[in-house]
Amino acid sequence: MVFINAMSSITAPLFGLGAAAVTSNLGVFIPALLAAIAYFQYDLMDPESRPIDVEDEQMLDRYDFVVVGAGSAGAVVANRLSEIENWNVLLLEAGGDETELSDVPLMAGYLQLSQLDWKYKSEPQGSACLAMANGRCNWPRGKVIGGSSVLNYMLYLRGNKKDYDIWEALGNPGWGSKDALYYFKKSEDNQNPYLTETPYHSKGGYLTVSEAPYHTPLVAAFVAGGQQMGYANRDINGEHQTGFMMAQGTVRRGSRCSTGKAFLRPVRLRKNLHVAMRSHVTRVLVDPSTKIAFGVEFIRDGKLHRVRANKEVILSAGAVNSPQILMLSGIGPKADLEKHKIPLIQDLKVGHNLQDHIGLGGLTFLIDKEESITLDRVYSVGPLMQYAIFGGGPLTIMGGVEGLAFVNTKYANASDDFPDIEFHFVSGSTHSDKGAQLRKAHGLTEAFYKRTFQNIEGVDAWSVIPMLLRPKSRGFIKLRSRKYFDPPLIYPNYFMDNFDMKTLIEGAKIGYQLSLTPAFQSYKSTLHEFPDCKKYPKLSDQFWECMIRLYSVTIYHPVGTAKMGPYWDQDAVVDPQLRVYGIKGLRVIDASIMPNLVSGNTNAPCIMIGEKGADLIKEFWLKTARYG
Ligand SMILES: Cc1cc2nc3c(=O)[nH]c(=O)nc-3n(C[C@H](O)[C@H](O)[C@H](O)COP(=O)(O)OP(=O)(O)OC[C@H]3O[C@@H](n4cnc5c(N)ncnc54)[C@H](O)[C@@H]3O)c2cc1C
Ligand SMILES: *[C@@H]1O[C@H](CO)[C@@H](O)[C@H](O)[C@H]1NC(C)=O
Repeated sequence: MVFINAMSSITAPLFGLGAAAVTSNLGVFIPALLAAIAYFQYDLMDPESRPIDVEDEQMLDRYDFVVVGAGSAGAVVANRLSEIENWNVLLLEAGGDETELSDVPLMAGYLQLSQLDWKYKSEPQGSACLAMANGRCNWPRGKVIGGSSVLNYMLYLRGNKKDYDIWEALGNPGWGSKDALYYFKKSEDNQNPYLTETPYHSKGGYLTVSEAPYHTPLVAAFVAGGQQMGYANRDINGEHQTGFMMAQGTVRRGSRCSTGKAFLRPVRLRKNLHVAMRSHVTRVLVDPSTKIAFGVEFIRDGKLHRVRANKEVILSAGAVNSPQILMLSGIGPKADLEKHKIPLIQDLKVGHNLQDHIGLGGLTFLIDKEESITLDRVYSVGPLMQYAIFGGGPLTIMGGVEGLAFVNTKYANASDDFPDIEFHFVSGSTHSDKGAQLRKAHGLTEAFYKRTFQNIEGVDAWSVIPMLLRPKSRGFIKLRSRKYFDPPLIYPNYFMDNFDMKTLIEGAKIGYQLSLTPAFQSYKSTLHEFPDCKKYPKLSDQFWECMIRLYSVTIYHPVGTAKMGPYWDQDAVVDPQLRVYGIKGLRVIDASIMPNLVSGNTNAPCIMIGEKGADLIKEFWLKTARYG
């Protein structure tokens, strides 16, 4: 057997090394890790087996529903619609299937710029990402079964209850916090018995939610430090959001639980669901006179295909690609479509209302104890074997993030439980440990990286990424050209509203205060400064602003580009049933529909949108009650 041969040549020298570092070179570590996984988890790896990629010849000419994009929302929609046995469903996905590497939680950052990523970059705007090449921020998006739930850091968060109550108050009935909670619980299979006893969590759903099986002592300091600052240690997805906790994630037996794994693998044998991978949808076919969407066009293996939809086309291609496909189909801002000579079918504000979570990267504190996740400790035989054999050890830490918190700056009303800053706590340096890989993923220039981080490579440290929860700035997405393989133009407009900068500066200050708590002073935590910002008085507002503008990081949550809203809302692209205004038989079900960005990470909210969207379709065609 090939695997055994491969392994004996790799494990023999590895076991000989004992616990020493395999190498600080990921080019050697990753093949060794993959070989170990293949060897030890050959049968165990995915008991559910992978989705079947339908062959061209088996594909039908028409389906009841054609779903575009197998990401966080699309995988859910395809699963729930195909529960109805006499409906047939085609799910089209531009990417291929997940890999063994994408299953390993700590390796999340390594997937960026790989073939699983669309590798988008924002347009330079001069207000953020100034330490990145040409001032462009990298915008990773998953191009794979499971979509961005395969690239993401697996952190499970739902946002604040008020977010959904605000959506409803904007004129979107059925989208309030009670409805959202019903759908969050519908998907969930929470492994923590303390949580499933509360009214906020459930078990038995498709989506596994658990804590990483391994923790460093630093995350205990994080939670204790939060308590010393007056914050509660609590389930931030429960009754109250303000507080600190150890991260919960979409993790199953120590591995990533993408929506592909959760929602598509268990239904792989359904006869009425076809999944077609490597199928790039180029446009929705809309009859210009009746304005009925009757199918889609897509390219597979260089060949143009057309497929018809008897009932509906559903776009779940995410907040960058759903607006792109709409515009390529003649649905979008009139002037833009005219510019690209695309015949206009419906004039709508597609691509507007773009919102994203922006944070300060590289806020690092050096410590005096050997307790961090460092390259030498993690990329070594012990952790490799712990992961491959037991699904445990430090490789199960979700993208390096062990702790999460929601805090209030002076601009938030602390008694309102509507915090304005989130912290991602990393039990290492965001740089010294992954070195060049993270430099590349974040797009930092080599010169900036060398000046700022090279002298702390491999050093014990912790970091916190303060993130602005409800930006006031709005950006937009436009077509670069009418060529469907051209990436769209992304203008995030970070910090265009100065209040966003003022709030994030306060967030950075709270991150600094955390380092002064007894919990972190017992590690003698000291701030690692950016040499480029030493020209400003230490800890002044200008000092923090300098760091934020240089090392701005997207937390990868773009939303809002096909805004949901009532008919009187001039900016709305879809109605509260997620139907595109003016077009029959076309819905958008993904991150694009959020009227306002939720106050938290967006994977679980997109899954919730998928669950609710599928129910809206069932209600429409079957006239059934949603729940009761
Ligand atoms: C690096 C990274 C880290 C993140 N970390 C977290 C986290 O820890 N926690 C969290 O909650 N959220 C996180 N997020 C955000 C979260 O994963 C996304 O908000 C969510 O996955 C978006 O879901 P979606 O369904 O809107 O789109 P996606 O999941 O992106 O799905 C869109 C799908 O459509 C496909 N597609 C696009 N265009 C076409 C086309 N033309 N034809 C066919 N198919 C197409 C894509 O390939 C993709 O599979 C992260 C995201 C990234 C990228
Ligand atoms: C803060 O929130 C509380 C609780 O919602 C409210 O009673 C109070 O009026 C708010 N204070 C201010 C200054 O808005």
